[in-house]
Amino acid sequence: MRTVGEGVDAGWAGRRVIASVGFTGGYAEQAATTTDHLVPVPDGLGLREAAALAHDGVTAAALMQATAPGPGERVLILGASGGMGTLLVQMTHAAGAHVVAVARGDRKTALVKELGADDVIDGAEAEWVEQARAALEAAGGPADVVLDGVGGAIGAAAFALTADGGRFSAHGAPTGGFAPIDPQEAARRGITLRGIGDVQLTDAEYVRLAGHALGEAAAGRLRPVIGHVYPLEQAAEAHTAIEERSLLGKVLLSARGE
Ligand SMILES: NC(=O)c1ccc[n+]([C@@H]2O[C@H](COP(=O)([O-])OP(=O)(O)OC[C@H]3O[C@@H](n4cnc5c(N)ncnc54)[C@H](OP(=O)(O)O)[C@@H]3O)[C@@H](O)[C@H]2O)c1
Repeated sequence: MRTVGEGVDAGWAGRRVIASVGFTGGYAEQAATTTDHLVPVPDGLGLREAAALAHDGVTAAALMQATAPGPGERVLILGASGGMGTLLVQMTHAAGAHVVAVARGDRKTALVKELGADDVIDGAEAEWVEQARAALEAAGGPADVVLDGVGGAIGAAAFALTADGGRFSAHGAPTGGFAPIDPQEAARRGITLRGIGDVQLTDAEYVRLAGHALGEAAAGRLRPVIGHVYPLEQAAEAHTAIEERSLLGKVLLSARGE
């Protein structure tokens, strides 16, 4: 629709934009929002790529701010093959960190390697924790930063791989729950705990970080990985694919074939 409401800058009419539609969800052909939620999509960036970054790119950027991995630091990423995981691999690599990533199976481990991980551990292996520990030790010691997009017992196992004085972000829960980390043990070891509560953003922060993510992608420095695009009416199949962990990266829904 190429019109704007009363009192709205006519320059928005026809612009390609993304917006966070909040917790009401976005499974719709049209959405109403206010202009302070709009983020222009840069020329040259596809709408699908922008959609893949609308949530994951913003949260990934916020997690980078919250854990601040720096050059030469060792970063362990769990769930590295997912929509946000694939972005975190690229962002931590770009920050100059040594990236040890965990993903499952040949296709996913190959993708994560291609995106910049220095070491990739197959999470399907029974000894993945020992393998991750060995990779970290070979790079100099335990992980300065752990980005846990998986949670549960897997996240808890990764806590043991975190350096004293490090940062551990328990933001993921596809296993059914966030990593159960004892805050007292974290305090005793000087580990800063971060989680989903640390990346709840104001509208202005959302717009700023989304604009940054879209700009990085338009400049070719960030590649959203789109595993599959389903038509809106096949949303149930999309959810099944996510639960079966059969796809790489982000799964999108498309309304009207866009
Ligand atoms: N994306 C966001 O903006 C956002 C915002 C807030 C919180 N989060 C949390 O962060 C997590 C990661 O985000 P994402 O976008 O990368 O998610 P995603 O695209 O759903 O990927 C999650 C990855 O975790 C692994 N996984 C899934 N189920 C698992 C299980 N039962 N046990 C072990 N591993 C499992 C899978 O990798 P393998 O098959 O390779 O093991 C999958 O690729 C989300 O699940 C969510 O809990 C995300």
